[in-house]
Amino acid sequence: MTDRFDWVLRNAAVFTPRGLAAADIGVRHGRIAAVGAIPAGRGAVEDDFSGLTVLPGVIDTQVHFREPGAEHKEDLATGTAAAALGGVTAVFEMPNTKPATTDPAALADKVARASGRAWVDFAFYLGATAENADDLATWENLPGCCGIKVFMGSSTGTLLVDEQEALERIFACGRRRVAVHSEDETRLKERFKLVEGGAPVSMHPVWRDEETAMKSTARLIDLARRTGRATHVLHVTSAGEMELLRHRPSKMTVEVTPQHLTLAAPEAYERLGTLAQMNPPIRDEAHRAALWAALKAGVVDCLGSDHAPHSREEKAQPYPKSPSGMPGVQTLVPVMLDHVAAGRLTLAEFVRLTSSRPAEIFGMAGRGCIAEGFRADFTVVDLKARRTISDDWIASKCGWTPYHGMTVTGWPVATAVGGRTVMREDELIGPPGGKPVDFS
Ligand code: DOR
Repeated sequence: MTDRFDWVLRNAAVFTPRGLAAADIGVRHGRIAAVGAIPAGRGAVEDDFSGLTVLPGVIDTQVHFREPGAEHKEDLATGTAAAALGGVTAVFEMPNTKPATTDPAALADKVARASGRAWVDFAFYLGATAENADDLATWENLPGCCGIKVFMGSSTGTLLVDEQEALERIFACGRRRVAVHSEDETRLKERFKLVEGGAPVSMHPVWRDEETAMKSTARLIDLARRTGRATHVLHVTSAGEMELLRHRPSKMTVEVTPQHLTLAAPEAYERLGTLAQMNPPIRDEAHRAALWAALKAGVVDCLGSDHAPHSREEKAQPYPKSPSGMPGVQTLVPVMLDHVAAGRLTLAEFVRLTSSRPAEIFGMAGRGCIAEGFRADFTVVDLKARRTISDDWIASKCGWTPYHGMTVTGWPVATAVGGRTVMREDELIGPPGGKPVDFS
């Protein structure tokens, strides 16, 4: 082993598999080559990170970047720039674009579009349909594919699979993780009359109520149990679902979003109007508390931002014409570090939910840990920094955040992807060089 490194990160508190340790990190050829005390002058580049904490790169396993088809809201360059500015080193992007990502050509097109434009590493979900169900076992192994996405309830876009026969075929065909938007389509349709003619946006969680989510998630647990398929329930929002998920089959995993852990009805709707509208909805304080209790009990596997930007003009339409979704990839780290500072979450839980566990459950080769041999993806944070999140910091094309005006403790100060610093002190450092994530 040579004792020279391309880059040495010095004097930080480093989050190692054994917890926080004072250490230097030596990086060579994009990988971690040493963690410990490294003698002076060994790095071609050296950075002093005194007072800062180096975490394994944060992975956001649920974003919508709108390209192709709705680039006025977001594209792969702006979405990944927002990720880098927010301390996120890899993103998994959703298939409800136009066209939807439902075949190999659409997947290859996204990979090609991201190459040379993405600021962070990336992978894409293949959208399941009744028509492509039997092909997914082959297609899921294509480069740049992180897994399969099923919309069991309709949301933004046209993807929807709610017939039992098609769901059975999708779950029986293949082995990669199936990520599911879980809301019961029949109940959604029945209850739409509650808001159809116009209603206050505070009716959103009344239309898409807890029972809508519970019914679908109960059905999904049954499907996962019978088929043994690795199943991932996205953005779980309700106390009842978490109760069911405590007894889920072993290969089933659970996501919550920062917004469902942070915002609550009715306050969020009163303050933010349709900016707070998303699917599944922001619910009341009791549900929010139940999500935290489930997280603390180990029921939750990962945090995904469900970054789903819409323009202000689109959001200004009267409910329910206003589209559902809010941006979140850039605010995931500061919002969750603020929960760490407030004592609601430990730093170890944060790292598990944003890095080690996503890497494990999606089979991301060589990521999610600061140890020799792993990829040099780092989220460098200042756990003491007090900053106010504001719309003018937001790189997403939508230009707004539901957290505008919120003062947080904890901020991402540098983002490194494969040994290259892509963000330092709120500035992007180019050129963008994000790569498709490899899966084992
Ligand atoms: O609120 C949402 N917006 N939920 C989804 O499932 C989709 C997303 C979007 O793409 O806008």
